Amino acid sequence: MTYFGAMQNEIYNAGLKGILPPFPVDFATLERRAHEALGPSLTNYIAGGCGDEHTQNQNAAAFHHWGMVPRMMVDCSVRDLSIELFGHKYPTPLFMAPIGLNGEATQDRHGDLAAARASAMTGVPFCASTLANDPLEEVKKACGTTPAWFQLYTPRNRELAESLIRRAEAAGYSALVITLDTWVTGWRPRDLNASNFPQLRGKVLQNYFTDPVFRSLLARPPEEDPAAAIFTWAATFGQVLTWKDMAWFKSVTRLPIVLKGICHPEDAARAVDHGADAIYCSNHGGRQANGGIATIDLLEDVVRAAGDVPVLFDSGVRSGSDAVKALALGARAVGVGRPYTYGLALGGAEGAAFVLRAILAEADLLMAVNGYPTLADVRAAGARRTDR
Ligand code: FNR
Repeated sequence: MTYFGAMQNEIYNAGLKGILPPFPVDFATLERRAHEALGPSLTNYIAGGCGDEHTQNQNAAAFHHWGMVPRMMVDCSVRDLSIELFGHKYPTPLFMAPIGLNGEATQDRHGDLAAARASAMTGVPFCASTLANDPLEEVKKACGTTPAWFQLYTPRNRELAESLIRRAEAAGYSALVITLDTWVTGWRPRDLNASNFPQLRGKVLQNYFTDPVFRSLLARPPEEDPAAAIFTWAATFGQVLTWKDMAWFKSVTRLPIVLKGICHPEDAARAVDHGADAIYCSNHGGRQANGGIATIDLLEDVVRAAGDVPVLFDSGVRSGSDAVKALALGARAVGVGRPYTYGLALGGAEGAAFVLRAILAEADLLMAVNGYPTLADVRAAGARRTDR
């Protein structure tokens, strides 16, 4: 059994030799240092959200009004944080949420490969975004033996959508995560004030530029006429999806289908009825719609409506205790978003792996102290709202 909390002993023991941890273990310091490393433009894009960012801020703040009650006299000397998903056993309940700007987050602009290497180093599966600086085949290879999932932004062009799905299958991804809330970009004042939308500057479009169907739409290849390729990308980017489209997705792939962006219990129930293999409760980190409700406050109802279908969760997870609370409220797996991208910004694969390991260490030690040796115990203990 992996003892994730052992990271704490490593840190204290290194301290006896005068060695400090290479990266911050808390989110506030991580965020501040990452913003310094990223510079204003990338910071705006990664840290920014929709409208006045109330929903985004609530996502993280709302974890504070959930609390857990410890149990005593329980043998917690061994903890099991493993989960089962899509027929595979994962050593941890975390995953790396798709972040379509990972590619730009590292100095070498190959942040997708660095994120994949962090996944290989930690066993935390990486959900690779359609928006990437390196093609999905290369990203998958860099994940090593850790299974990876592919997140699809469904293009309007069906042949292109199918081509991306086929490539993900051929590359060996083990789930298809279809993002439902982003056929159009939400109103993001930080980026608007700076007139900056990275994709329109040709960033993170390599999955399109390397795609045979996408290339067949162009008069000249992207290497010769990038402006025309970017224009074609913008014209084909976002398909509005409805429940009718599920039949098409099911007809073109045998990969487990995960629907990302489900926050309403009725949508969760419909997703189950339409054959979704997992539901991904997320509000895109508050980047798509403002005026919403913190996703952690919606999770329990979504889990109830999903029945036996697993629910993945993200939005606002900043620490191991946040992750345990989401598990207590019924998430099968918990997505880490901005924190690992900040790790990439500070230290590439090593930085992202450190952030993931720190979250796991805190989660493991919290389970140890709280008397929850397994995730089933976490779930049975549940979490309580403290503000009502
Ligand atoms: C995202 N997210 C996202 N989601 C998705 O399905 N495909 C994508 O390409 C992206 N790209 C992306 C870029 C950036 C810069 C951010 C911050 C987020 C949303 C992501 O998967 C996840 O839902 C949020 O990051 C969760 O919120 P927190 O915890 O990061 O605040």
